[in-house]
Amino acid sequence: MIPNVDNDSLVYLNGEYLRLGDAKVSVLDRGFIFGDGVYEVVPAYGGKPLRMDAHLARLERSMAAIGIRCGLRRADWENRVLELIARAGPADCMAYIQVTRGVAKRDHGFPEGVEPTVFCMVSPFKRPDAALRERGLSAIGAPDQRWLRCDIKSVSLLGNVLARQAAVEAGVDDVIQFRDGYLSEGSAANIWVVKGGTLLAPPRGNLILEGIRYGLMEELAQQCGIPFQMRPITEAEVASADELMLTSATKEVLPITRYDGRPVAHGGPGPVYARLRAAYDAVIAAL
Ligand code: PDD
Repeated sequence: MIPNVDNDSLVYLNGEYLRLGDAKVSVLDRGFIFGDGVYEVVPAYGGKPLRMDAHLARLERSMAAIGIRCGLRRADWENRVLELIARAGPADCMAYIQVTRGVAKRDHGFPEGVEPTVFCMVSPFKRPDAALRERGLSAIGAPDQRWLRCDIKSVSLLGNVLARQAAVEAGVDDVIQFRDGYLSEGSAANIWVVKGGTLLAPPRGNLILEGIRYGLMEELAQQCGIPFQMRPITEAEVASADELMLTSATKEVLPITRYDGRPVAHGGPGPVYARLRAAYDAVIAAL
C-alpha cells in the first residue's frame, strides 16, 4: 500500500495496464539509481488533454537529448495516455509519463541492449480555485543551483526539489530562481514579469525548461494585444515588477502577489494577468 494515493487506479508500465499498488520497478532501474530518465505532465480537462501534441513532442526531445530510444511512436503515446485519461473518468486530471534508460548493472555509461522503462499514470488534479486566483501566490528569490541542461525535462530533480523545499521552509509558495543575476524560473514553473504593460519572459535556451505554457502564453499575449518580449531579466526588474506570474501544467497561470515579503505593486492580481487568465480559461473551455 502506498499512502495518500489511490492504489487501485490504473497505470501503464512496460506494456501492461495494472493497479498502481501492483506496479513495481527493479531497484536497478537507472531512474532509481542515477535519475537517468525524463518525464512529462499533461493536464486534461473533462477527459480532454490540453496541448498533448506539444507535450509529447517535448518528451521526444528530452529522450533524444539524453539518447533514450524507445519503440513507442507518437500515436502509441497518445493512445496510452488517452486510455488512462478515459478510464479516470470525466474529472480534471493530469497524466504523468516517465521514461528511464531501463534496468542494468550499475555502471554510469549507457548499457547496451536494454529496454527503457515506460510508466504512465493519471492523477486527479484540482484546478486553482477562485480564492487562489484572487489571493495569488507568494515567492522568494533564490540562487539557481541546478545544472546547465534545464531544457531537458529530466527526472533528476534534486535542484528543483531543494528549491521548493526552501520555499516550504520560508512559508511561501515557490522560489524565483536567478542565475548570475538573471531570472531563470520557479521550482516547477515558468515565471513571467510585466513592466510598463509589456509581458517579459527569459529567453528560451538551456537555462530554463520551455514550458508548454511558454508558447501558449506567447500566443495568448498576441491574441490579447499585449506586447511580449523575450529577453534576459535582472533581479532588480523582478523586484520592481508591475506584475509577476507563474505558469505550469498544474498551476495554469497564477499571479505572484508577494515577493520577498513585500506586495508586488498593489499586492493583488494585475490587469495583464486578468486578460491572460481569461484567455487561458477560454482555451480550456474550447477543448
Ligand atoms: N513542471 N519549468 C520547470 C522546471 C518545470 O518543472 C515546469 C513544469 C515548467 C512549466 O512547464 P509546463 O508549462 O509544460 O508545465 C517550467 C511540471 C508541471 C512538474 O514537474 O510537475
